[in-house]
Amino acid sequence: MKENNRGNFGSKFGILMAVAGSAVGLGNIWRFPYLAGENGGGAFLLIYIGLILVVGLPIVLAEYSIGKAAQAGPIKAIRRLTGKRHSPWESMGYIAVTVGYILLGFYCVLSGWVVKFFVESAFGGLVSKSPSEISSTLTVFQESVWQPIVFGLAFLVISMMIVRRGIDRGVEKWSKILMPTLFVMLILLCINSSTLSGWGRGLDFLFNPDWSEVTTRTFIDALGQMFFTLSIGMGVILTYGSYTRKGENIFKSKGLATIIDTSIAILAGVIIFPVVFSFGMEAGQGPALVFNTLPLAFAELPMGGVLASLFFLMLAIAALTSAISIHELLVTVAVEQFKISRKRAALLTTGGVAVVVAGCASWDVLFDGADFASSNVLMPLCGLITVLFAGWGMKSKVLRKTFTDNGKYSKGIYPIFLFCVRFIAPIAIALIFLSGFGFI
Ligand code: PHE
Repeated sequence: MKENNRGNFGSKFGILMAVAGSAVGLGNIWRFPYLAGENGGGAFLLIYIGLILVVGLPIVLAEYSIGKAAQAGPIKAIRRLTGKRHSPWESMGYIAVTVGYILLGFYCVLSGWVVKFFVESAFGGLVSKSPSEISSTLTVFQESVWQPIVFGLAFLVISMMIVRRGIDRGVEKWSKILMPTLFVMLILLCINSSTLSGWGRGLDFLFNPDWSEVTTRTFIDALGQMFFTLSIGMGVILTYGSYTRKGENIFKSKGLATIIDTSIAILAGVIIFPVVFSFGMEAGQGPALVFNTLPLAFAELPMGGVLASLFFLMLAIAALTSAISIHELLVTVAVEQFKISRKRAALLTTGGVAVVVAGCASWDVLFDGADFASSNVLMPLCGLITVLFAGWGMKSKVLRKTFTDNGKYSKGIYPIFLFCVRFIAPIAIALIFLSGFGFI
């Protein structure tokens, strides 16, 4: 029996915005530019796009199909589809939940930085400061003991308030408003960057591959970035799939979400690198990149202060639609495993994540470690088990039926998808994994 009281997405546009809302976040605007900056720009971009096509998109489709077929979160989905309790495939669900707690804690701390930059640009005159004053804003904030914790926890509580309202009134409603607004904001910034002196050099860096910077670490970084940005390898897309019942062309809609996600990452690069070169900054400066460059770009614009506040607000909101998707996974699993109400589950999971927030905000090693362990190790592992399950573990009839919506859509694509899920994606993940960690 499938429960009818779990709630469902109300419309196709709502699902698209929720899936794209989960994917688009700090991964596109903060993480992608700084990793591309460290890994030779264009070369990183090409490897990343290649991986999305042969590994990322198939995982998105597999996860979504598993969730939709089972109408349940990751642990219960495996039980339903195998008809067994405690099959080895279930490990996927447990890894997903573990990553969920770690990553949400990390993500809230990072989103806290964004909220701080919003406050600074709205009330602290951030954009009129000099480059060195701007970079000290982030350092001073990180060094104050309580601020990162308070900002991170506040963010977590907002996420909880949305998730406890349920799928259609919470997640879907917000994603539909916030995502289009963010897009308009980015286009505006892109036009601004095109007027800067470093425009040409910025684009050259992003689109002209410099293979000399590429090492096995580049592949590990690109793989981790792909998992992080597409929200895959942790049951989030699976969980969203479980809240849809209506017939849909899964390939088309998830393909579109993937295209939106990739375009926004590229757009972020197009905005940021011209600023880096115009102001003689370092492209490979690491995680502070966006926080140090964007305020300078805004300073060039009329009403830069207002626009900067709006931008950081939008970024915080984009981060929120990602955070709620992870929160939703944790709540769904808690409801299913402990048979408690959604509201209670929201409170319980928030308590667990709060501990991670406090840890990641207080110790840099935990902050960096949480990102690395989740994106570069646990998510690829969970993604690997997911594709193996979709390709070899579950009944291929069920997968086919869900993917093609009973033979209505994408019948020609299905064999290619299945081939990627069965062979290409697992082999690619395994190879990158083994070589990145020095086993081969
Ligand atoms: N994809 C989100 C981003 O790019 C982060 C995220 C990761 C969200 C994993 C959900 C699950 O910011």
